[in-house]
Amino acid sequence: MTPPYDLDAEKRQAALKATEFVRDGMVVGLGTGTTSKHLILALGERVCAGLKIQAVPTSHDTAALARQSGIPLIESDNAWMIDVAIDGADQVDPALNLVKGGGGALLKEKIVAAAAKQFIVMVDHTKLVPGLGGSFPLPIEVVPFGWGSTARNIEQVSGGKAVLRERNGTVFQTEAGHVILDLHMPKIADPATLEIELNQIPGIVETGLFIGRTSMLIVGHAQGVDVTH
Ligand code: 5RP
Repeated sequence: MTPPYDLDAEKRQAALKATEFVRDGMVVGLGTGTTSKHLILALGERVCAGLKIQAVPTSHDTAALARQSGIPLIESDNAWMIDVAIDGADQVDPALNLVKGGGGALLKEKIVAAAAKQFIVMVDHTKLVPGLGGSFPLPIEVVPFGWGSTARNIEQVSGGKAVLRERNGTVFQTEAGHVILDLHMPKIADPATLEIELNQIPGIVETGLFIGRTSMLIVGHAQGVDVTH
């Protein structure tokens, strides 16, 4: 493959493939981001054609698009039994571990992935990396109180640089009212250990490390899609 790539087409191909794993009667977790938008539009077409599903959205944007597309939603305080959650990712390593949270929805995304019997990840080919970290910072959702102190603790544990996420000159706030620290560090040698260490720091709500959660990976590329179980 040589550039320029049509990454949106790759995402769409991956999303279309993912819809094949959604069947009548399922409760589906809907991810957030540009790849998930393709998924929601395609699922909406199938719902209009008679597919019977209910969905749990991982962000307000996803909920709005799902409603517009005719996909019935389950209220967020229900104790869901999710058959399959389908979402994008920012990085995927050879063990199918992920970095997620580029869109700031990592908390709901991880709750939904953890509640699902199956977690399908759809990406364009540029998301595949030999190791997590490096080219993409690790998003970490933290409570606003004492975020500077939390950032210092994160830097001590990781050896990286934690940068408060801003959008258009103001501090980015998540849907749960938290802030995000983007942790810049070289390749993450041991993502599972880093996740455990970060989770011990007070103030951290959730990290964008998704370790051992991927049931299936669908990668879009110029010639089609690759599916890995
Ligand atoms: C949002 C996410 C997204 O899944 C991730 O950023 C990938 O986004 P896209 O599908 O737009 O490439 O984790 O919090």
